[in-house]
Amino acid sequence: MVKRTPVLRAPGTAGPAPRSRTRRALVLGASAVLALTGVTGLSSPASAASSLDEAAAAKGRYFGTAVAANRLSEGDYVSTLNNEFNSATAENEMKWDAIQGSRGSFNFAAGDRVVNHARNQGMQVRGHTLVWHSQLPGWVGNLGAGELRSEMRNHINRVMGHYRGKIAAWDVVNEAFQDGSSGARRNSPFQSKLGNGYIEEAFRMAREADPNTKLCYNDYNTDGINAKSNAVYAMVRDFKARGVPIDCVGFQSHFNSASPVPGDYQANLQRFADLGVEVQITELDIEGSGSSQATSYANVVKACLAVSRCTGITVWGVTDKYSWRSGGTPLLFDGNYNKKPAYHSVLSALGGSGGDDGGGGGGGACTVSYSKAEEWGDRFNGRVTVRAGSSAISGWRTTVTVTSPQKISATWNGTPSWDGSGNVMTMRGGQLAAGASTTFGFTVMTNGNTSPPSIGTCTTS
Ligand code: XIL
Repeated sequence: MVKRTPVLRAPGTAGPAPRSRTRRALVLGASAVLALTGVTGLSSPASAASSLDEAAAAKGRYFGTAVAANRLSEGDYVSTLNNEFNSATAENEMKWDAIQGSRGSFNFAAGDRVVNHARNQGMQVRGHTLVWHSQLPGWVGNLGAGELRSEMRNHINRVMGHYRGKIAAWDVVNEAFQDGSSGARRNSPFQSKLGNGYIEEAFRMAREADPNTKLCYNDYNTDGINAKSNAVYAMVRDFKARGVPIDCVGFQSHFNSASPVPGDYQANLQRFADLGVEVQITELDIEGSGSSQATSYANVVKACLAVSRCTGITVWGVTDKYSWRSGGTPLLFDGNYNKKPAYHSVLSALGGSGGDDGGGGGGGACTVSYSKAEEWGDRFNGRVTVRAGSSAISGWRTTVTVTSPQKISATWNGTPSWDGSGNVMTMRGGQLAAGASTTFGFTVMTNGNTSPPSIGTCTTS
């Protein structure tokens, strides 16, 4: 069920996605707990955001991640996704081979799972990708020029039509230029059969297919000023001069020791922005660990924030364990969903609090994260994951506050007690090893109110 309708923006406009409802509930929950327990003398928690999406939103940006549909059944994956991100890109599910593996037969099921999850959480969605040489089924390469052109139009029409109104920006063409010093086009069925004009054709087809979404060109190794980015720059400048529809340029930003964050990253983003397009960091990951990885991540965030038309950052996955480059541990959460130093440096570069209230592992004694689970008829299940920080704990407690006339009708995996109103449940549990987690659950009778519960902070005992 769609709980909220995300605000989508017209081409060329910028701004953050609406905040995640879950995240807002957690923040409100923390203040509610302070009020309820009469704690005084703490500095105000109000100003600094404590999640990536909220911190980015305060800067007028979105903060997104690649999402894999088949991970959406994993509780920690979902709670980290919901709590920290407000934009989603399907990691593979909207590519040509996933949607139209055989000619004329369209399968949107996996893409829909990503889009529906994101929209239910109030996240915006980036569409990835329409025309790309890779993850392209063999049948496309076997077509002659005339058929290829009409199949490209058909694919763009069908896919953009299916997702019309739900996608903030589409990667219309992906990776069309070669690496190296030539600045040449990459060889592909599109390039070899349709010639240099195919990119322009694809963008014109895309604008016709959905005039209300942003159209991006996306590539890698274009993050600094070099021959490849110069070639993309020349194309975008030409498109703008001739009125070929293009709204944004995506910089994938896959970095490692052989290909570090370039020193002229910000200058490169700026020169594209100066052409009158939005720039977006679309697939960020940086191999490494510890403080050097954290510093590189912070530098990327600072570069985006320094360019007013840099409207958002997407990291290429939630957790190291599912990264396409998992051996390089390139993401913000480790394989146990602990926040890495890179997480804290990103949050702090975004102006957030650097606090540790969600994913665990940042040194706090224990942390909680909430996700909504099953929903049926007049009730839904909530799930809270409690995680010990870097030391073992002998016990924990947190609160779950529902809004009257909601009532909690059942609980599991914890020991509940209730305040006088019956709206605030304190849940207690036993020992946890360092970094270990447990999950408790409860059923909320909505009595007509479907708002999510507020979860208090985690306290050890
Ligand atoms: C990658 C996915 O992460 C992998 O799961 C898949 O096997 C290959 O593609 N550039 C892109 C992305 O535009 O679509 C790629 O994603 C990474 C490089």
